[in-house]
Amino acid sequence: MSKKVFLSGIQPSGKPHIGNYFGMMKQLLGQPEDYEVYVLIVDYHAMKSVRDSKEMKENIIAVVLDYLALGLDPNKVTFFKQSDVSEHTELCWIFDTITTMPYLMRAHAFKDAEAKNKEIDVGTFNYPMLMAADILLYGPDIIPVGADQKQHIEIARDTALKFNNTYGETFKLPEAMIMKEVAIIPGTDGQKMSKSYNNTIPLFAEYEEIKKAVMSIVTDSRGGVPQNVFAIHKLFRNENELNKIYAEKAGKYKELKELLVEDLEKFIAPLREKRKEFAKDIPKALAILKAGGEKAKKVASAKMDEVREKIGVSVY
Ligand code: TYM
Repeated sequence: MSKKVFLSGIQPSGKPHIGNYFGMMKQLLGQPEDYEVYVLIVDYHAMKSVRDSKEMKENIIAVVLDYLALGLDPNKVTFFKQSDVSEHTELCWIFDTITTMPYLMRAHAFKDAEAKNKEIDVGTFNYPMLMAADILLYGPDIIPVGADQKQHIEIARDTALKFNNTYGETFKLPEAMIMKEVAIIPGTDGQKMSKSYNNTIPLFAEYEEIKKAVMSIVTDSRGGVPQNVFAIHKLFRNENELNKIYAEKAGKYKELKELLVEDLEKFIAPLREKRKEFAKDIPKALAILKAGGEKAKKVASAKMDEVREKIGVSVY
């Protein structure tokens, strides 16, 4: 039986936060040894928000260190950045030619931008096609993601079907894996935790940063329980135990927040230490990423040969 293949990606558009971790990274790294896993840093996708080369470089390095500190084993996982495998943008173009504009106009990200009267760049409009290429080149079975990516996975499936119907069976249809309890991790304001909402708790935050973020949590309370504090807290402690503590300390928001700070610190401190070790040798960390890119390139390039054959441009 062939191995199950897992794949997912993150944009290097800022510091990864606990929403990214619980929504995606944990699932992706937690796969059994005999599964094949692809971990992508989607730097070309991040270009829609990062337009400064220094910042882009720093963000890429930061995500590499984060993953290594989380225990990513490069011998088991293909860990790479999108821009190292030009087949992604190549396949994206091919998908563009079989996808209609009205179809992409139904994408949430496009509709949100349009509703806000933003000037929408073509990259934002076309974002789901590049993501479909990221996925379909590697024939994954499962894509662990947070709920916000559900539609993108559906678009990847539709695109695979459309290509297969037009040119013959080529791409496997992937399934999204969205864990109900962590599908939408809330931020400090109760909305979805997101780099663009400024409501995150960074995954590798220093103690003071954790404290500042937790103290800023908006305390919307029902029955004396600060809901936004509880929603984050239950990621770090058993819910029954928490129910008891929150009942005992009903209304004592400061104490509950202090407890959350301690629990976050317990979780983050060892990760932070590991990350500092990896940060001592950045060239070594980047060599891991580069080698991952070379490995991914072989798979992607074989798939593209097949695609070129199917569409009829392979004439030699
Ligand atoms: P990105 O970089 O926004 O986020 C990375 C992953 O973190 C999840 N996530 C969350 N999950 C739960 N609660 C939250 N508050 C939360 N915030 C973020 C996201 O759902 C995502 O899984 N389009 C993708 C990147 C991408 C990709 C791919 C993913 C590009 N190509 C191919 C999978 C496969 C994105 O912008 O993720």
